[in-house]
Amino acid sequence: MRRLVSALLVASLLALVLGASAFAGNGGFGPEAPVSPNASRINDAYWLIFGFTAFVFVVVESALVWFVIRYRRRGRPRDAEGMQIHGSTRLEVAWTVVPVLILAAIGAFVFYKLPGIKDVPSARAGEQLTVQVQAHQFYWEFRYPNGQLSVDTMVVPAGRVVRLEVTTPDVAHSWWIPRLGGKIDAIPGRVNTTWFQTDRLGTYPGQCAEFCGLYHAAMRANVVVVAPEQFSGFLSSHGAGSAAVGKETFTGACAKCHGSLGQGAYGPKIAGNATLADRQALEQLLREGKGRMPAVGKDWPDAQIDALFRDLKGRFSSGG
Ligand code: CUA
Repeated sequence: MRRLVSALLVASLLALVLGASAFAGNGGFGPEAPVSPNASRINDAYWLIFGFTAFVFVVVESALVWFVIRYRRRGRPRDAEGMQIHGSTRLEVAWTVVPVLILAAIGAFVFYKLPGIKDVPSARAGEQLTVQVQAHQFYWEFRYPNGQLSVDTMVVPAGRVVRLEVTTPDVAHSWWIPRLGGKIDAIPGRVNTTWFQTDRLGTYPGQCAEFCGLYHAAMRANVVVVAPEQFSGFLSSHGAGSAAVGKETFTGACAKCHGSLGQGAYGPKIAGNATLADRQALEQLLREGKGRMPAVGKDWPDAQIDALFRDLKGRFSSGG
């Protein structure tokens, strides 16, 4: 009976573990398929290390199982002494040298790959696009070379090298779009750079990877890779004072805490609040924060505050 219970327990635990791994896709063992050269190089390092660890796991576990069976008690008295063995120079040298060689191989491989992961590839002027990535509690703001903005969704043209300058005005966050490269920290007072380049059109999701406060989980980001013609369309619709930026700012910076209808969620209800109709009071609230509300708009350009003000007006003026 007890055996049956433990067997059932083991089986259900195993089912849980395997189920979770299968759900994670590619068996749960591999990172997401990379679409940028730096992400593929990180992937290569992952699989090399995985190969060694899988090998060590199989060797150690097989030896363990074999020893358990081969040297079981077989009815000998509990206090019977086993054979006494002292030293095995060859074995000891082997289990020292082999791990050193494995670590050296991994280290050499990673250092060989590192420049290709870290360094932004040189590109002719005009072929590289620099986007400033500003992490905020609890949204992402992207700034393009001619003052255009977007919130939580970065749009870039296919094929271009995109250089990211990552920073934050508040607390530490971490930029991470797995299919486009590794994590890079957003640190107050510092600008960290990373990059990606892809020809593959599509939407690549990611998530802030550094616990940054209550709404850390809401700090999702998407990178949308579009054809170059579409990219110029995106830029012309995303000036700092545009309706698109007003809407994205509301969705990214306000709605997460105050609800998409302003009905209140973690933050209080804002629909119908007089501050929304007072440009100056709104600006002060956004730039300085209040109580538990972070200073979400501390460093927004004035045009972005205008855009949000207009968006809020359109959103809540009737009824509220
Ligand atoms: Cu920002 Cu976690």
